[in-house]
Amino acid sequence: MLGVLVLLVSFLLVRSSKLCPRQCLCYDASELVDCGSRGFTHVPRSIPHGTQLLDLSGNDLWELRSGSFTGTRVLQVLLLSQSHIQLLRSKALSSLTFLEKLDLAYNELRVLPPDFSQGLTALKDLQLSHNALQRLESRSLEDLESLERLDLSHNHVQVIEAGAFRGLSVLKLLNLSWNQLTVVQRGLLTMQQSLRVLLLDHNNISKIETQALAPLHTLTLLNLEANQLSSLKFKTLLNLQTASTHLQMSENPWTCDCELHRVFSKILHVRHLHVDDYMNLTCHAPLSLGVMHSQLCVAETATVLLITGAVMVTVVAALVMAERKQNQKMNLEK
Ligand SMILES: *[C@@H]1O[C@H](CO)[C@@H](O)[C@H](O)[C@H]1NC(C)=O
Ligand SMILES: *[C@@H]1O[C@H](CO)[C@@H](O)[C@H](O)[C@H]1NC(C)=O
Ligand SMILES: *[C@@H]1O[C@H](CO)[C@@H](O)[C@H](O)[C@H]1NC(C)=O
Repeated sequence: MLGVLVLLVSFLLVRSSKLCPRQCLCYDASELVDCGSRGFTHVPRSIPHGTQLLDLSGNDLWELRSGSFTGTRVLQVLLLSQSHIQLLRSKALSSLTFLEKLDLAYNELRVLPPDFSQGLTALKDLQLSHNALQRLESRSLEDLESLERLDLSHNHVQVIEAGAFRGLSVLKLLNLSWNQLTVVQRGLLTMQQSLRVLLLDHNNISKIETQALAPLHTLTLLNLEANQLSSLKFKTLLNLQTASTHLQMSENPWTCDCELHRVFSKILHVRHLHVDDYMNLTCHAPLSLGVMHSQLCVAETATVLLITGAVMVTVVAALVMAERKQNQKMNLEK
């Protein structure tokens, strides 16, 4: 019995080492296969069936054809960064139902196919940063029901279709830094009730719809640095019904009028909201070098002074007139 087992094991070992693609290195009875930076122009055939980690980064793949990984169904980690990938064909990854981490960073993807997420129901970590994505379509991410981390930073995303994140119900981290978003829409994050970290810095956001952040009950960090925000509604942030949320909002062209001062003074009094960089918030207007926290409410004070002044002038004028009339009367009587 034992003999048979030993034979079987050594047979498998030999078989799997035989199966290792020629330029690659296969470790640990081939559970880990290193084909990184080997000049591959396509996914090599003869990758051992039992491979759990496959490193194909730094190659020259250009496109991933459909069924590229049907021979390696138990893959858990697939590294494909820096491989000049421009095109993902339909069903290129759909056989990878055990995949937990997929790294596609530093490629040249402009779109994700509508069935991109098909089959990837075990995926927890998806790295798509440093690509050229312009648009997230409503269906491309819909099957990622286990996804916890999504990194889309350093793309050109301008439009996220309604429902694009609908399937991501256990998402904890969403990194959208360095894109070209202009608005945070109501309805975009409705299913993100487990989201802890939302990074929206270095976009072009000038508007956050009042209800947009309301579903985020577990958010601990919201980064909005380096956007185009000039004003803010108190209600938008008050809608964040969390235990504690840190907000980062510097490098925005704030219009420091009395309204905004009121909004910030209210935010600073909400116990679970913490504006980490309040001391660094600068005013784009009315004084371009001003700092939010040191600005008096200039406009309001000026208005009040003006009105007071006008009233006083009127009163004095009236008094003077009255006085003159009195004098004239007295002169006439004389
Ligand atoms: C988010 O993306 C930025 C830019 O690529 C990166 O510097 C940062 O480390 C990312 N943050 C997380 C938590 O992944
Ligand atoms: C940013 O948004 C403004 C309008 O809010 C627009 O005029 C400008 O072109 C946008 N910039 C980029 C880089 O998208
Ligand atoms: C405020 O700005 C300074 C200088 O740019 C920087 O060193 C510091 O880390 C910033 N503080 C916060 C809380 O962002």
